[in-house]
Amino acid sequence: MATAQAIRGEVSEFLGREHGLLIGGEEVDARDGERFDVVNPATGDVITSAPSAGPSDVDDAVRAARAAFPGWRDLPPTRRADLLWRLGTRIAELADEFAQLETIDNGKPLGEALAVDIPLCSDLFKYYAGWVTKIEGQVGTPSFGSFHTYMRREPVGVVGAIIPWNFPLLMCGYKLGPSLAAGCTVVLKPAEQTPLSALRLAELVTEVGFPPGVVNVVTGFGERAGAPLAAHPDVDKITFTGEHTTGQKIVEASKQNLKRVSLELGGKSPTVVFDDADLETALAGTQGAVFFNQGQCCIAGARVFVQEGLRDEFSERLAERARSIRVGPGLDAATEMGPLVSAEQLERVRGYIESGREAGARILSGDDPLDASLAGGYFVRPTVFTDVAADMRIMREEIFGPVAMVGSFSDEDEAVALANDTHFGLAAGIFTRDVGRAHRVAARIEAGTVWVNTYGMFDAAIPYGGFKLSGFGKELGREALELYLQTKTVWVDLS
Ligand code: NAI
Ligand code: MG
Repeated sequence: MATAQAIRGEVSEFLGREHGLLIGGEEVDARDGERFDVVNPATGDVITSAPSAGPSDVDDAVRAARAAFPGWRDLPPTRRADLLWRLGTRIAELADEFAQLETIDNGKPLGEALAVDIPLCSDLFKYYAGWVTKIEGQVGTPSFGSFHTYMRREPVGVVGAIIPWNFPLLMCGYKLGPSLAAGCTVVLKPAEQTPLSALRLAELVTEVGFPPGVVNVVTGFGERAGAPLAAHPDVDKITFTGEHTTGQKIVEASKQNLKRVSLELGGKSPTVVFDDADLETALAGTQGAVFFNQGQCCIAGARVFVQEGLRDEFSERLAERARSIRVGPGLDAATEMGPLVSAEQLERVRGYIESGREAGARILSGDDPLDASLAGGYFVRPTVFTDVAADMRIMREEIFGPVAMVGSFSDEDEAVALANDTHFGLAAGIFTRDVGRAHRVAARIEAGTVWVNTYGMFDAAIPYGGFKLSGFGKELGREALELYLQTKTVWVDLS
């Protein structure tokens, strides 16, 4: 085993300092002084603490965001663009530091944080920096009278952003990039499991010179900090990523002042492998679809449907690959899969694996004991089930762990029916060498993103988001920007 990378000086120093909430440009404690422990999921050790915002802190943050809104909205677009670009640049410059923070907070392998989370987050601030100067209205042409009629695109106002723990820094970018570009101010609530990179980002926001109150960061729990933000009468929009049941609560909480809401919720995505697929491509793609980020991906393509004649060979070979994945601490250079994010998540995922076994699914990999050195952390082996039935819990509910369910289908129609047999509709993968089939099936699958002969591709410029119970409103691309803008129509009588 390779040795674990040493914690960098600036990371230890960051962990050693007591961090506050970012409200109105000031770092402040929660009013009642509450803090919560931050745990390294690879060891179970408490590594630092973070402030636990309560309703009055959220109220302070919303007030600060409201006060900052007119100034931010009216700042010359090039100036706003410049700040977004600088934030993106600083994130890239501090990639090693951010990657270590993500790894010790979330558990993910350092190499993945460096290859995916950090560069994509940096890119998307730069991508949205480009939009700031290109937000344009329209001129209308009424069919009567003599009027100058035009439509202005204006920011919706104060945005509450509530994010999960699976891509902590990246999710900050998903929400902050388009909202800041649109001219909104933001109150960001990171997940209680992973507050560190957002706290570091808060420091950068101040360092690069965002006006006070444009970005406010309130670390804390769902009930204590998230719920009051979702219900706050002076928040104009909530953008949320997380569990669909939490999304439902947010819709409920938003109704008092009819907030705009966009929701990126869970999934139960299908990966469909036809017997004409390039086998190596399909295996590698499926492995990534199911196991990337310890399976803790909203887009995880964990329901794997393989065409009949190929199923046994495919499931065996997927299980072989699963067995060979090196599970260990994310800081260890040899690690290919880190721990799950928390003890709670480990228990949840183990519960699903148990339920699959009890329901009669056959386990092909995942049973081998873990190395004794991993006992303190929240590790689980990559698991492959076959002989799964459509009504099993493991086939219906989002597991959010490294668990694949391999089933089979006979023809295209059955593949589509199985793929769509879920209340969710976030994503899907198709593996085939038949171009016509690829496009036919892509059109018939009920999901917001379909990948063909690949899986899990993301880019700042390309929108993604769900159908059905996976939510509404896109992330990324121009579509996300539109969600933070509203149209004002002006009629001027020229007669
Ligand atoms: P969650 O939906 O409870 O948490 C996500 C965020 O919402 C966190 O910041 C949390 O503090 C906040 N939150 C929780 N309750 C809230 C409320 N009533 N009002 C406002 N904000 C609230 O997800 P959790 O509990 O962390 O994970 C449970 C399961 O949810 C996972 O096992 C997974 O299946 C799913 N999940 C899906 C994600 C996705 O990207 N689709 C991300 C995280 C979790
Ligand atoms: Mg929850």
